[in-house]
Amino acid sequence: MSHRPEHSHSTTPPTADAPQAQAGNWSITSWKSRLDPQQVVYQDRAAVERAVTKLRSLPPLVTSWEIERLKSHIAEAQRGERFLLQGGDCAERLDDCRPEHITSKLKILLQMSLVLVHGLGKPVIRVGRFAGQYAKPRSSKTERGEFKGQEIELPSYFGDLVNREAFTPEARTPDPHLMVRGYQHAAMTLNFIRALIDGGFADLHHPEYWDLSFLGSAALSEQTRSAYQRMSTELASALKFMENIGERDVKDLSSVEFFTSHEGLNLLYESAQTRQVPHRSGYYDLSTHLPWIGERTRSPDGAHVEYFRGIRNPIGVKIGPSADPAEIASLIEILNPDHEPGRMVLIVRLGAKNVRENLPRLIEEISRSGAPVLWVCDPMHGNTRTTSTGRKTRDMDDITTELLHTIQTHRELGTRLGGVHIELTGEDVTECVGGASGITESTLETNYSSALDPRLNYAQSLELAFLLANRVHKV
Ligand code: PEP
Ligand code: CO
Repeated sequence: MSHRPEHSHSTTPPTADAPQAQAGNWSITSWKSRLDPQQVVYQDRAAVERAVTKLRSLPPLVTSWEIERLKSHIAEAQRGERFLLQGGDCAERLDDCRPEHITSKLKILLQMSLVLVHGLGKPVIRVGRFAGQYAKPRSSKTERGEFKGQEIELPSYFGDLVNREAFTPEARTPDPHLMVRGYQHAAMTLNFIRALIDGGFADLHHPEYWDLSFLGSAALSEQTRSAYQRMSTELASALKFMENIGERDVKDLSSVEFFTSHEGLNLLYESAQTRQVPHRSGYYDLSTHLPWIGERTRSPDGAHVEYFRGIRNPIGVKIGPSADPAEIASLIEILNPDHEPGRMVLIVRLGAKNVRENLPRLIEEISRSGAPVLWVCDPMHGNTRTTSTGRKTRDMDDITTELLHTIQTHRELGTRLGGVHIELTGEDVTECVGGASGITESTLETNYSSALDPRLNYAQSLELAFLLANRVHKV
């Protein structure tokens, strides 16, 4: 988001019988007649209605102006003029709405982006998985566990927007009011991020804000530390040089932009914040800049695709190893029939061992269709495994292999990797194995705190940024 002034954003709250929108007979609620394989079963319908009514009445979290700006950045990235960095927690918790947690996530994203800007020689679009990444799809709707000395079956944990993590019947019962609390925590998170950016947090004239000192405890390898220090010194002197020669744009560097994203999984939550805005046509999901459709909910005739086709935001689609390239091509025609630039972000997460086999067919099919897309690699979700002690982990070797094979495949086919999507945190967690900090399966328990999937820690994230900066297409 930007600190720049906005035009008026009074909005029209939707009603159940809101006018039909641009795409066929789409409406804010037309998704309700389609199948949602991840639909939450709430027991108290009246409480759902109260929560949704409340959400409809509250102000939007982001503005259409910001959303359109991101779309134009993504259109540039599709032409190779920018690179997308999207990252954050697998599942944000309401309790993560703490200053240290937010600040460290912003800092690692900022630092990674500087490494990429320096290495790739082009601007980087920074998108956090934050301020709303509270809803999680699950492969299994229930799980067995121990409660008061007995083994029982309870609903799985679907993220803090739906229920709570503790294995008790009370915590695991979906609670509609959590949608309102999710909105409130997203708003508080965003408020802090906007204040930090306005206050000069990301002012590139002040490298002391973005140097490595903020995490004295970070287990950075000597190599990464010195590479980062070299790069930041070079950036600082390049900035000074540009100012000295009177480069006009330098004042823009007093603030960098961040955008928000989350999986648009809970359609009650998303549609309650979907609005029309003055002076623009169509509807915007004003809960985030870049919502995405997950791997489990991208069926062309499902509820999510129906909802997403009618909003004006840029949208992501996750693509796993079971995806049929022809089906993805027709999905893109449903979601972006006019081939609008900047609209489609394909977040491919095949798993390291599948890239060389599956990616070429996918690229060929989409390239044949002529639809503009941004090719993004998520090297996390196809590389999850469970250790003998039952912990989910990911190996840095698999993550880097998936990235390198993806870059290589694009190069061979004349297309381009335009971004990465990473589960990460700015903290010193021990959730993924490998990398210079040497985390192994036996040290995973030292600081494993993810609510769901394992994230790269601070040092692993920075290492990955350097790898990308050296391997992705230059300008
Ligand atoms: C995620 O991004 O956390 C996720 C669940 O991804 P996918 O839909 O790709 O499995
Ligand atoms: Co995840």
